Amino acid sequence: MSDVVMVTGAAAGLGREMALHFLREGWRVALADLSVAAVQTTLNEAGEQARNGIALGLDIREEAGFSRALAQVTAHFGELHALVNNAALTLTTPIMDISVVEFDRVLTTNLRGTFLGCQTVGRYFAQRGYGRIVNLASLAGQNGGTASGAHYAASKGGILTLTKVFARALAKDGVTVNAIAPGPLDLPSVRAVVPEENMPALLAMIPVASLGSPGFVARTAALLASRQAEFVTGAAWDINGGIYMR
Ligand SMILES: NC(=O)c1ccc[n+]([C@@H]2O[C@H](COP(=O)([O-])OP(=O)(O)OC[C@H]3O[C@@H](n4cnc5c(N)ncnc54)[C@H](O)[C@@H]3O)[C@@H](O)[C@H]2O)c1
Repeated sequence: MSDVVMVTGAAAGLGREMALHFLREGWRVALADLSVAAVQTTLNEAGEQARNGIALGLDIREEAGFSRALAQVTAHFGELHALVNNAALTLTTPIMDISVVEFDRVLTTNLRGTFLGCQTVGRYFAQRGYGRIVNLASLAGQNGGTASGAHYAASKGGILTLTKVFARALAKDGVTVNAIAPGPLDLPSVRAVVPEENMPALLAMIPVASLGSPGFVARTAALLASRQAEFVTGAAWDINGGIYMR
């Protein structure tokens, strides 16, 4: 039997891309998002392979959300091997205009959501002695961001730190925890905040002069989620076209 992966935020954008990639590669996949109907639509796009998937409603901000999702996944597939913490809110409000309410909303979704996923599913993985967690961080969490908001960038910096702490805590139990830090990808979320006329200016600040491929990020997530990735943990893999070199 193939491994089982849960992808959060699988209804749209990168999460959708990753969930469909896992299905194409023969994984069994739990696609989770706020709306079951939306994530079911993504699953239906997989055609034949949709039979290896399940659509779940999950709000990553809720303390009991991941326990419920885990119970549904194990009831359906019998087990879970990998978690991709992808769901996030990407807001671009200028720093001096961010309200406390909006700040909390972004941090609660992005940082607490990832924390809850790592803790709840990480505990289950540790008990079984095997697991893979892949967190979606961002270039913004490393360089403060360019187009994205301060709350978003700070949440992504926090995810990079949580990745290391969970990696250290779970390493002895066969569980790896890693982050992917993409730069701007060719996705609707990026095109929505960059008007067509500003695209040349964006591309001019990217050394390789193009947006990143969501498909490549999906393949990277699948590599980190695979059995063979046992020697990578606590890492952040940069996929940013050379915008930030370290
Ligand atoms: N798009 C990029 O260029 C880029 C760059 C760097 C990092 N990332 C990261 O990749 C991930 C996906 O980005 P995207 O551009 O596809 O975003 P998106 O906004 O297109 O999709 C995010 C998905 O998460 C879901 N979601 C939001 N809040 C949720 C919640 N509380 N519970 C469950 N699901 C929730 C949304 O419904 C949506 O389906 C994010 O973590 C983002 O920070 C993206």
